[in-house]
Amino acid sequence: MRTPTFTIMDNEMYISEISVSTLVNTYGTPLYVKNEQVIEENALMFLNHFQHTHVKSEVIYASKAFCTVAMLKLMNQLGLSVDVVSAGELLTALKANVAPSRIYFHGNNKSEEELLLALKHQVGTIVIDNAYEYHKITQLNRGKQKVSLMLRVNPGIDAHTHEYIATSKHDSKFGLSIYDAHTRALIKEMSQDSSVDFVGIHSHIGSQIFSSQSYMEEVSTLANYMATLYHEDHIIFKKLNLGGGFGIKYTHEDSPLDLPEFLQVLIQHVYTSITAHKLPTLTVCIEPGRSIVAEAGITLYRISTDKETLNGKNYCFIDGSMADHIRTALYQAEYLAILANRANEPAIIDYTITGKACESGDIIIHHCPLPKVNEHDILAVLSTGAYHYSMASNYNRILKPPVVFVKYDQSRLVVRRETYEDLFSTEVIDA
Ligand code: LLP
Repeated sequence: MRTPTFTIMDNEMYISEISVSTLVNTYGTPLYVKNEQVIEENALMFLNHFQHTHVKSEVIYASKAFCTVAMLKLMNQLGLSVDVVSAGELLTALKANVAPSRIYFHGNNKSEEELLLALKHQVGTIVIDNAYEYHKITQLNRGKQKVSLMLRVNPGIDAHTHEYIATSKHDSKFGLSIYDAHTRALIKEMSQDSSVDFVGIHSHIGSQIFSSQSYMEEVSTLANYMATLYHEDHIIFKKLNLGGGFGIKYTHEDSPLDLPEFLQVLIQHVYTSITAHKLPTLTVCIEPGRSIVAEAGITLYRISTDKETLNGKNYCFIDGSMADHIRTALYQAEYLAILANRANEPAIIDYTITGKACESGDIIIHHCPLPKVNEHDILAVLSTGAYHYSMASNYNRILKPPVVFVKYDQSRLVVRRETYEDLFSTEVIDA
């Protein structure tokens, strides 16, 4: 049985064992809350089920989903490696005491400064996106240390997801196509370079994926590709990184994969594919982000009032905005919400939940059935643990909300609320 992120008792929502009214009275609103136990269980589920007697495996947390020192400390303690895509994420991982050897540095356009930082800290694996980046890193390294490199390849697989988060179509900006002869030549060059430890290939086919078939196809296609390069060019692949992208449940219509079951099917498919192709054994990596942290997160807002337009549309005004919740505007994402202080009362109005940003597109939920709302009611938007805090902005100079971890009857602030001073901290006031 999975631990639920929240429960309802006496008409009120509890996150783990703490009531939402206690949380908002202690920390204010808007507030990002995370049930730490749920995060831990999700991470352990990946570690425990992505295992095979004959294939080594590694679970890498994609930190872009939610990147803070507290979160990366937790992932590190549980035994996950960490994927970073920028100097900021890399420095966060280092601050969380993640061993550099357990860090994977991704990104399609790492700057010289970022590559130098990775070299300086001896980041375990740099995932190269293109030939320019490979030549740049060898040039910056000047043979001083042996650098471990993987190459991101594009197997051209349809992940059946939103076009903004599909990353393996033929026109994707990420990686190099396995159908391009230059890619094979580059892999050959990397594997023959004495200053490089060529680790293998990486691919990430997209995000919020429900299709098991897409992952199975990814494995078959990459195993086939590795086999050609192994048997014809004698290239050894020590690792195969399949990326992340496992979808989660935002609404009742979403049907995520049964991960405990599917992860075993997936790793078994890796085993049978590499055996069938007579490939040497390797370590297979996956990089979940959203599926570890999304459903563990809830955003709490205070409602001020509601307002009916001339043509009968009912708006419910909350004290947050698209600045802390961009996914609806950006990906037409859908969410469920609960009137958290009156959780058992029947829904009678189809509300459009909107925030305080000066923008008609500032919609959190387009259709949200709720009881008639009152001033000071608390709205809890569900499954906001991934890509909310990490994509938050200061649009309209709105302050970013704090993040609180809750575990059983304890809560702790892991990111404090921004202040107006923070807003001015980067400005040259007398310029
Ligand atoms: N590995 C790589 C190389 C990635 O690019 C990503 C996500 C992941 C792993 C983790 O994917 P996940 O398991 O979280 O789906 N902002 C978008 C999602 C962008 C994902 C980018 N890459 C959203 O809010 O849906």
